[in-house]
Amino acid sequence: MLRHVLRVDQFTRTDVERLIVSAAHMRTIAERGGDDRLRGRILATMFFEPSTRTRMSFESAMIRLGGRVITMENASETSSAVKGETIEDTVRIVETYADAIVIRHPVAGIPERGAQVAAVPIINAGDGAHEHPTQALLDVFTIQQELGRIDDITVALVGDLRYGRAPRSLAMILTLARNCRLILVAPPGVEMSPDVLDALASHGVEYRAEIDLVAAAREADVVYMTRVQKERFPDERSYLAVRGQYQFGEQHLEVMRPQSIVLHPLPRVDEIDPAVDSDPRAAYFRQARNGVFMRMALLDALLNSSSTLA
Ligand code: CP
Repeated sequence: MLRHVLRVDQFTRTDVERLIVSAAHMRTIAERGGDDRLRGRILATMFFEPSTRTRMSFESAMIRLGGRVITMENASETSSAVKGETIEDTVRIVETYADAIVIRHPVAGIPERGAQVAAVPIINAGDGAHEHPTQALLDVFTIQQELGRIDDITVALVGDLRYGRAPRSLAMILTLARNCRLILVAPPGVEMSPDVLDALASHGVEYRAEIDLVAAAREADVVYMTRVQKERFPDERSYLAVRGQYQFGEQHLEVMRPQSIVLHPLPRVDEIDPAVDSDPRAAYFRQARNGVFMRMALLDALLNSSSTLA
C-alpha cells in the first residue's frame, strides 16, 4: 500500500509496473478532459525551492482528477518557516487543511521528517541533492512509452551526477530493471556518489565511467542529460570549473541510433543545443508532459481508496 512517496527504494518492480500502466491510463483520462475521482480532496504544494514542472504538473494532475489545490510556491520566503517553525509543526498544521502534501526543500531528508509526524500522505518533490522520486517514476514511464520496454537498455547519465537528484533517483530506480547498463558521464568532481554506485553493484547493475559523450551517445538507448546544479556548489569557482563541459548537439544525434532517445529532467541551461529539439529522438518535452500522467497515477494511488494501487 502506498502511504508516502519519499524515496525510490520504497518501490518494488511490481509497484513501478503498476504505476506505469496507471499513468498510461491517466493519459487517456486526461485527453478526455479528466474525471472527478478526487472530488472533495485537497492537495497542498509547499515549495521551498523554485520549480516549474513538478509543482504545476502536480497541481494539474490534482485538478484533472477533480480535486483542488492550495499552494505555497515560495515557501522559503513566505511560510512561517521564516519565523523558525519546524517542518514537523508546519506539516501538523497543513494536514488539517489538505489531504496530501507535496514538499520540495533544499535540505535532504526534510520530506521524510514531515512524513514521520504526518497523518496524510507526504510526497517528496525533491530534497536537496538527495532524491526526486516522482521524477524517476515519470522518467521510467517515458522510457517505457518511447522504447516499449524498461529492460535490456543502456542509459547514459550525463552531467552533474553528484548534486543532481534526478540522475541519482533514476539510477536507483533502474536497479529494478533487468539487464540495464549505465554509462556515467560526469565532469571531474561531480561524479556519481559512492552510495549510488554501491546500490548499483549490489543489484548487479553493470556501469562504467566514460568521458566521451560521443562514445556514450553511440552506445546508449537513452541519453539522459542534466543541468549542473549551480545552487548546490559551495562557491562560484567550483561551479565554473565544471559548467559547460558536456553539451549535446547535432554531432551527437549523428552517431545515435534511430530508435534511441534524449531525455532531460529540465530545466536546461546549455546542456542541449536547441537545434536538437526538432529531432524526433528529442523526447524531453514529451517527458515533461508525462509528469502530469505519472503524478495523476500517484495521487490516485495515494488518495483514491478504490484505486487498484491503494
Ligand atoms: N524536473 C524538475 O524537477 O523541474 P522543476 O524544477 O521545474 O520542477
